[in-house]
Amino acid sequence: MESVHRDDQELLRGQLTAFFTARPYAMPPRIHASVFVGTSLDGFIARPDGAIDFLPHSPEPHGFEEFYATVDALLMGRKTFETVLAFGGAWPYGSKPVFVLTSRPLPPAPEGAVLERVSGTPDEVMAQLRQRGIQHVYLDGGQTVQTFLRAGRIDQLIITRVPVILGAGISIVGALDRDIQLQHVATRSFPSGLVQSEYAVLPSP
Ligand SMILES: NC(=O)c1ccc[n+]([C@@H]2O[C@H](COP(=O)([O-])OP(=O)(O)OC[C@H]3O[C@@H](n4cnc5c(N)ncnc54)[C@H](OP(=O)(O)O)[C@@H]3O)[C@@H](O)[C@H]2O)c1
Repeated sequence: MESVHRDDQELLRGQLTAFFTARPYAMPPRIHASVFVGTSLDGFIARPDGAIDFLPHSPEPHGFEEFYATVDALLMGRKTFETVLAFGGAWPYGSKPVFVLTSRPLPPAPEGAVLERVSGTPDEVMAQLRQRGIQHVYLDGGQTVQTFLRAGRIDQLIITRVPVILGAGISIVGALDRDIQLQHVATRSFPSGLVQSEYAVLPSP
């Protein structure tokens, strides 16, 4: 009789433990957000008029393909999206979903593109992507990176510096009201003179 009683207690304890540890409405984990950009030595991703002619077109591999294979989706600002559209030719992102940040309607999607318009604060946008099951997103665009970096929503920066000084342009970071601490992960240099550094963004204190 006593052993039956102990079994009942253990069963009840197991059920209570399962009840309190189950998280039926738990959200998936925070999205990992990465930036992979080319900049001038003085930190500009484009000239003041948006031109990116200073970025090399050489076929030298510098890790982009490997990085791109790890992302589930792209999140880009409307101006970067328009730059990509202006390139013409085949849509470069294949069937990977591209979320375009904009307050305006999107033009018709290029053939084969999976496009979606998003807007809101960085937290709201990341929540929308998280609902879609995105785990690793690639952010692109100056204003976009600046806003999400300031909001603490970027985890990884891979910056490939081109050996040129522009003196003015669209900054990768922009004005900040506090320092953003980084942890250096790796730096690689390439025969063409490109120097690529990878950083983890540390949480703000
Ligand atoms: N060097 C590189 O590797 C590299 C990489 C990417 C881009 N670029 C260059 O950078 C330039 C574009 O950068 P950019 O700083 O001008 O602009 P951007 O970040 O590409 O786009 C800015 C636009 O995104 C929209 N946006 C941003 N945050 C939003 C939010 N939270 N909610 C809703 N909409 C939001 C707004 O669009 P609306 O005005 O429509 O609302 C805003 O005007 C281009 O010249 C591009 O070629 C260079």
